[in-house]
Amino acid sequence: MPSDSAAPALCYAPACDKLPHLATRERCLKGKAKKSHGRKRASTYKGEALRVLIRRVAIQKRVTAVAGEITRDFPGERVHLIGVLKGACIFLADLIREIDLDTSIDFMAVASYGKNKESSGQVRLNKDLDSNIAGLNVILVEDILYTGLTLSYLRRILLERKPKTLKIAALLDKPSRRILDIEADYVGFTIPNEFVVGYGLDYGERYRNLKDVCVLDVPTAEDSHR
Ligand code: IMP
Ligand code: MG
Repeated sequence: MPSDSAAPALCYAPACDKLPHLATRERCLKGKAKKSHGRKRASTYKGEALRVLIRRVAIQKRVTAVAGEITRDFPGERVHLIGVLKGACIFLADLIREIDLDTSIDFMAVASYGKNKESSGQVRLNKDLDSNIAGLNVILVEDILYTGLTLSYLRRILLERKPKTLKIAALLDKPSRRILDIEADYVGFTIPNEFVVGYGLDYGERYRNLKDVCVLDVPTAEDSHR
């Protein structure tokens, strides 16, 4: 396994020092603005500020590397990707197209976060799988691993269904606030304790369409009184 693809990229490590540290929301939304043929687009909402953390090219490169790891780990076998809706849908769509194996897809939907940035601490299953996973090489695909509540819950209920193997692929890992002891087998980027949006990740259902992963700063009540 080549060393550059074996370890998760640290987005605040030297490889990413070239990232614009304090890019503006315009940079986050540049791709969108171009597509809108010059029309001005309402980029952020109620003073929320975005800054690029991981650029789209770095994401593409890393997703390809992770897909390569998966391809090498399951030579000649089929892998069954289970995406955790909704956040993982964009990561899964890019990842599966770079996997050079027989593949299949299913989705689960869970809810653990409300409109704000904190977890409710409870995971609820909103949509179960369409088909049986017994005997399959399952890869659970998630946007971000944070406290570990969501993935621990999903891992537990999936293991009860007797897959041949169960691996976890997370685009992002935010290890700073882990409550449960769980790690992903494939990690795109390890990030600091910031709330991020884009590339599938949302805040109150917005920003999933950003091509870069951006840090979102929401004004506090104090800010609005300044
Ligand atoms: P956990 O259960 O605390 O590990 O959180 C996993 C879920 O929380 C993810 O699937 C996301 O939906 C959500 N989440 C955690 N951190 C962030 C973030 O920084 N931005 C957006 N969603 C997040
Ligand atoms: Mg999620």
